[in-house]
Amino acid sequence: MSEASDQSSGPVTTGTVKPRVLSGIQPTADSFHLGNYLGALRQWVALQDTHDAFYCVVDLHAITVRHDPAALRRRTRVAAAQLLAMGLDPDRATIFVQSQVPEHTELAWVLGCLTGFGEAGRMTQFKDKSAKQGATGTTVGLFTYPILQAADILLYSPEPGPGERALRVPVGEDQRQHLELTRTLAQRFNHRFGDTFVLPDASIIEGAAKITDLQEPTAKMSKSASSPQGIIDVLEEPGPMRKKIMRAVTDTGTEVRFDEEGKAGIANLLRIYSALEGVSIADLERRYEGSGYGRFKKDLAALVVDTFTPIRERTLKLLDDQDGLDRILADGAGRAGAVARRTMEVVRDRVGFAGRALDR
Ligand code: TYM
Repeated sequence: MSEASDQSSGPVTTGTVKPRVLSGIQPTADSFHLGNYLGALRQWVALQDTHDAFYCVVDLHAITVRHDPAALRRRTRVAAAQLLAMGLDPDRATIFVQSQVPEHTELAWVLGCLTGFGEAGRMTQFKDKSAKQGATGTTVGLFTYPILQAADILLYSPEPGPGERALRVPVGEDQRQHLELTRTLAQRFNHRFGDTFVLPDASIIEGAAKITDLQEPTAKMSKSASSPQGIIDVLEEPGPMRKKIMRAVTDTGTEVRFDEEGKAGIANLLRIYSALEGVSIADLERRYEGSGYGRFKKDLAALVVDTFTPIRERTLKLLDDQDGLDRILADGAGRAGAVARRTMEVVRDRVGFAGRALDR
């Protein structure tokens, strides 16, 4: 992960306590997609060895748009199973469901009272989504969504003590603005109420930060994309996976060359290939010189299938033992809750809420 454009400085591990990492993902589909995997989830797995890791399935964020309760329940478990199947280890990382730690909403309220209306209104994801849904379909929850995200992060702000007080947040490019808001809110809180929160650093992998749609290669690969043909799902069967890659939109040329402007489709496929195999784009250009798009796509399809098949199989197995899965999540919520409660005790005290912090 050496290519991460990390805003933090200094070594990753110093002192006796590992630096923290926190990230979240929405359970809004029956499977994660290739963009989630390359932009964020692969980093989550890598960072669990060097960091004190907290990863949450953000079901509270998933209800900011109209949802079906049974689907949400199912997708939350499928999300957790995929995280485990990708290599997250509950002994090394705390994996939990956001709604099981009520301090997330409590801190969100406090931070919401420090956020300007105009400031929240400038979030581009809100502007895009609300423009699509129209005024009546847009909820207040969608508007305050980034504030809840800031709470998700800052609750896990490391406490003073030995070790590096870093808080790293591995995400794709589309979350950059939300991370900047989180830093602003942390700074504002610290300024008004005394030093409490560490400013989080976004960890964004160059090259994989924005995987685009296979049918519309200038748009982000997204769960809300118009056509399923543009998205590769992690849990997809090999047949459709291969087909989607073979049918990915390219230009009319034949040359496998990275050209974002002129060859957006091929550029995206090269980015995916490079990230999955760990080879440079220049090496891939040399490998496929003069071979046309067919062989390139066929090899990429095989690589994607080989990457995701074991993850799909492990996910299905984990879902067979729902009680086991729920136990892992309950244990994660217990560990996350212990940290979150400590943070909230300090926050309550600093903000001036009487009594309760002292009573606990
Ligand atoms: P979400 O659920 O939309 O996406 C999860 C992660 O996947 C990344 N991602 C991508 N990366 C590269 N290319 C793409 N096409 C692509 N699509 C998605 C996202 O950047 C994200 O890292 N608001 C967040 C969830 C969240 C969160 C948090 C994240 C809630 N609380 C606290 C970090 C910390 C979201 O909707 O991500």
